[in-house]
Amino acid sequence: MKILGLETSCDETAAAVVIREGGGQGRILSNVVLSQDEEHRPYGGVVPEIAARAHVAHADRIVSAAMEEADLKFADLDGIAVTAGPGLIGGLLVGLTTAKAIAAVHDLPLMAVNHLEAHALTARLTHGLEFPYLLLLVSGGHTQLLSVRGVGDYRRLGTTLDDALGEAFDKTAKLLGLPFPGGPQVERHAALGDGSRFPFPRPLKGSDHAHFSFSGLKTAVARTAETLVPLTDKDIADCCAGFQAAATEAVIDRVGRAMEVFEEEIGQTRPRHLVVAGGVAANQALARALAVLAASRGFDLTVPPAALCTDNGAMVAWAGAERLVLGLTDGLDFAARARWPLDAEAPAAGGAGVKA
Ligand code: KG4
Ligand code: ZN
Repeated sequence: MKILGLETSCDETAAAVVIREGGGQGRILSNVVLSQDEEHRPYGGVVPEIAARAHVAHADRIVSAAMEEADLKFADLDGIAVTAGPGLIGGLLVGLTTAKAIAAVHDLPLMAVNHLEAHALTARLTHGLEFPYLLLLVSGGHTQLLSVRGVGDYRRLGTTLDDALGEAFDKTAKLLGLPFPGGPQVERHAALGDGSRFPFPRPLKGSDHAHFSFSGLKTAVARTAETLVPLTDKDIADCCAGFQAAATEAVIDRVGRAMEVFEEEIGQTRPRHLVVAGGVAANQALARALAVLAASRGFDLTVPPAALCTDNGAMVAWAGAERLVLGLTDGLDFAARARWPLDAEAPAAGGAGVKA
């Protein structure tokens, strides 16, 4: 089964062709990602209107590049998968309209994919992982803990009550005068800093649920930075190190709590798997801490390669393949969804209206 996948929900214009073999193994034939970082950098964050216009300008070319690299024609495909939500509505509309046009002209099935589901299923493409597993999704737009039980079957164990983790990294970088996207910058400066100089809070550590909160931590860094102006390189490094240490410790505590809930859910099922996805999975301090946590709790840790953790078309194509095998296709009238929770039954987390 050969599937073309399109991703335009945020600031990457991406297309890929993925094969799903009869036995369920995945293989990536092409994976083309155009990042819009340069367009958004002057504004210190993603500007939705600029993102939508850039998708219009580049989507066709990126799709052609992915088809060319895979050495296929549209007629060779078995289906088209496209991110239909959640995300920035302008970008979603561009991707969805492009995918619908290709599907209509070539009479191919369309799979309208949930972006979060695409992240959630990536470990099955890269590692052939079996259900169930515990997923930590940490990106610029989302921070969630999910019990992944099957295609279309998710239980949300935790979500952020305010900022996503990547967003907190980006905002912290911005307030310290570091360029966008800030996550890698904060990590780089943190490596040179003293994480114990500023005792920043560990939000929600020890609480009963498995939710996250990062806006208070970011504000604590902002308050500290204000008292230091003008900031020296050492101040910046120490703030980055302090922020990263606090964020990591908070995440580890929340994942630890979710592991308990997950174990109650799956009972004696072995082995136990923890999967990390999303752009922040590239953070080495977090990855190291998660490895220690997983080992101490008897979980296997799976981290897909960085290029497949950040937004890409291959994860969308793969999610489409998983859906097509189950007969889960969508009509050409499928509408883009700015909000689209994976677990519609999840009780509202206090204050989480925007990100959940
Ligand atoms: O998944 P992604 O590429 O895009 C979405 O947000 O969907 O994630 C991008 C986020 C940004 O907030 C970026 O700053 C963060 O991931 N990020 C990192 C690192 N690399 C990327 N955060 C911390 N440390 C990193 N090394
Ligand atoms: Zn994403």
